[in-house]
This record gives sequence, structure tokens and C-alpha cells, in this order.
Amino acid sequence: MLDIVVPDEVRANWQARTDGIVRYGAPVLRAKAQPVGRPGRETRELVDRMKATMLASNGIGLAAPQVGVLLRVIVYRGAEDDAPIRSLINPRIVSAKGEQTGEEGCLSIPLLHGEVTRPNAIIVKALDLLGRPVTVRADELESRVIQHEIDHLDGILYIDRANPSTLEWSEPADPDAKPEQEP
Ligand code: NI
Repeated sequence: MLDIVVPDEVRANWQARTDGIVRYGAPVLRAKAQPVGRPGRETRELVDRMKATMLASNGIGLAAPQVGVLLRVIVYRGAEDDAPIRSLINPRIVSAKGEQTGEEGCLSIPLLHGEVTRPNAIIVKALDLLGRPVTVRADELESRVIQHEIDHLDGILYIDRANPSTLEWSEPADPDAKPEQEP
């Protein structure tokens, strides 16, 4: 696990944000999330809250630990234009092929970006909100987002996988401004 030093001006910007997202430094982001036993009403309420939180922050993915809940639940935006936000319960990658390198950020570490190399095409098995098994195939950005969110469930942050020389803070802007799209 990589530890980063958060500049004072960045931390001040984080503290000014009131989006309900847990920030880097909170132990919950480094803990292992527990599987959902059987999805029910509480799981649906959690997913609704995560979707609303993600949308409000203009995010493209969010994992339950980022709202302080140590359960294996992720939400993300699908690849197509105006795709619905999808949710996966207890997701696990069963196949990973190829390689892609691209820039990532994280709603839990606003203003930081860096390049991460990951597998390109993945197959993921999970449960839907009714507890039915689902299989998802994804590549490119959608695959990157799903991998980033599943990492969150194991306490892994993209900074652990990033090329350290590419990690860079951007200038803190108005905390009320919509951030760039990031998982
Ligand atoms: Ni993230």
C-alpha cells in the first residue's frame, strides 16, 4: 500500500466538500469489505444512496466503503451514452485479459490523478439486487472503473497500482465546482 502526503491546501479543499464521501486517510478505505449475505431492502437503500452520491459528485463509479459501509457493493456507469447506473453485489473478477494504461482519479482522493496499467477485458461474476447471479463482460474504461471499484472492496486504492512518477495534484478550485468525472 502506498501512503501519500496530502498537501495542506488540498486537505482544506477536501474539508470544504460536503458530498458525503469518505476521504483518503479514513481507515475504512483500507479495510476489507464483507460479502452481502442476501440482498434485501437495506442493500437496495444502500445502492440508492450510493447512486445519488455518485451522481451528485459527477462520478463514474463508487464503492460502498466510500460511503462508510464495509459491504461488497459497487455502482458504476455503463459504457453506452446515457447508460443507466449499474450495481453489482459481491463482484469478483473471474477472467482478465490484455492490458490498458490510462489516467485515474478517485472521489475519495480529490485533485490527485495518475496513470494506472490494468487488464483490458474482464469477466465479472456478481449478484444483482434480487440476489440473482449475473455475469458482466467489460473492456476499456468500463472495465477500468469496475476494477477500480472492486479494488476498493479490498482496501486497495489506485495509488497503490499507479506509476508513482505520474501521480500529480491539480490546483484546488472552488470546492462547490463539479469535479471531473472520476471513479
Ligand atoms: Ni475510487
